[in-house]
Amino acid sequence: MSSTEGIFDRGRHGGSRVARWWRMAVTGIVLLSIGTGGWFWWERGRSEGASALGTAEWVEIARRTSLEDRAAWVRVGRGMLQSEAVQPYTSPVEPIHNRGEAARVELGYQLFFDPILSGDQTMSCASCHHPAYGMADGLPRAVGRGGRGIGLQRAGTGKGLLRNTPSLYNVAFNPLQFWDGRAGSLEEQALIPIFAEDEMHQGSVTEMLRRLRAIPRYRELFKAAFGVDGRDDASEISLPNVTRALAAFERKLNITDTSFDRFVRGQDESLTTAQLRGMALFFGQGQCVVCHIPPHFHDGVLASTGVPVSLEKGAPLDTDPGFAAVIRRRDGFGQFKTPGLRNVSQTAPYMHNGLFRTLEEVVEFYNDGGGRGRGIEVISQDSKVAKLNLTEPQRRDLVDFLRALDSLESPPIVPARVPSGLPVVGR
Ligand code: HEC
Ligand code: HEC
Repeated sequence: MSSTEGIFDRGRHGGSRVARWWRMAVTGIVLLSIGTGGWFWWERGRSEGASALGTAEWVEIARRTSLEDRAAWVRVGRGMLQSEAVQPYTSPVEPIHNRGEAARVELGYQLFFDPILSGDQTMSCASCHHPAYGMADGLPRAVGRGGRGIGLQRAGTGKGLLRNTPSLYNVAFNPLQFWDGRAGSLEEQALIPIFAEDEMHQGSVTEMLRRLRAIPRYRELFKAAFGVDGRDDASEISLPNVTRALAAFERKLNITDTSFDRFVRGQDESLTTAQLRGMALFFGQGQCVVCHIPPHFHDGVLASTGVPVSLEKGAPLDTDPGFAAVIRRRDGFGQFKTPGLRNVSQTAPYMHNGLFRTLEEVVEFYNDGGGRGRGIEVISQDSKVAKLNLTEPQRRDLVDFLRALDSLESPPIVPARVPSGLPVVGR
């Protein structure tokens, strides 16, 4: 009995020692696997928020994420921003020959709104680039010489131009200006509309400078902006200085604050759940980010998306040669500059020919695979513009995200008077 007890005791005792070892081993294994599992899980979570994942993986994660799981979409959004190394918005670098000193910006502001620069003194830059229309004109294509008023009132009142008016917001960040990229700097660009026969049609530099010099307020403004000590001959009222002042003003037309920027700066609540889903499409399945790169939402180069000449079914490629006319090579046919998308919801209609009336139509076009996807013969359509297979709710989310790029700042104020005393367009 006692031996049995002993055996049992011993057994129990011995058994308990073995069992302790076993327990310790099993616990160790369990802890180890929990640990590794947790580590894997933590690593995955961490890499979802870090740069380890590629686009295909993000598309897969987004596909698996439940539509209404806001916290998950915030994580996906943050992770995508990190993967794309999205930087917060920073102010533009000003060229050394034209620092945007306050006096130059002020002069440029007055010149921008003053019809004095145009031949018949009826048109200013603001006739087509107006604050009420997101620094554009709201028309499919611009209305030039002879045109009256701003925005939709201008329709049919003057010479019809070939292209859509781009917004001037964020032009400081364009390495190339114009839809076909034919101008480099803003200083160089400003000369073109002033003298273009179809636009402001200023026939004579001498006459333009004479008019400016005759106005005491302009003498003061030019002196403050460009004056040389000890000289009082108004020689600083020159054509290069007109363009410098306009450019200095334009470099201040930046959209620095949008819901998207707030999200980038860490404010999760600034985007709606639909916008977060749309952002995931913009960066993932939609491939938009390949060309529309944050923070300015363009890549500074040109591409062909295959925009047709009209909305009619079976309409061919638009006849505007675009970049082909600049480089004199056929493979540039139909290539246009990727426009930035800040404030894009405010500047309908869209594309170089103003063909699409709404963002929904633009997204529809990309979803179809651009011109080629719609069966149009396109000379050099970019391979990144291909069928996207987005569902209708997804297309809505994508448009919602584009609205998260709307400016949260107030537009520039249209001056009540300009130094020439001429009526200010759009006042
Ligand atoms: C008649 C309407 C009209 C007037 C007036 C006008 N513009 Fe424009 N602007 C346009 C159009 C249209 C384009 C695009 C033309 C193209 O791409 O070929 C454009 C393009 C530009 C661009 C290039 C933007 C970009 O993203 O590529 C800048 C900068 C610009 N204009 C500034 C000015 C300034 C400064 C003035 C006044 C001196 C002015 N514009 C007057 C219609 C106008
Ligand atoms: C291959 C580069 C490329 C890709 C990819 C791309 N875009 Fe574009 N985007 C462009 C170019 C180039 C234009 C101008 C085309 C033209 O005017 O003919 C443009 C124009 C636009 C415009 C019109 C802007 C305006 O001011 O007129 C919007 C909106 C836009 N794209 C949104 C998107 C969205 C959303 C996606 C993803 C579904 C996308 N883009 C994918 C290059 C691209």
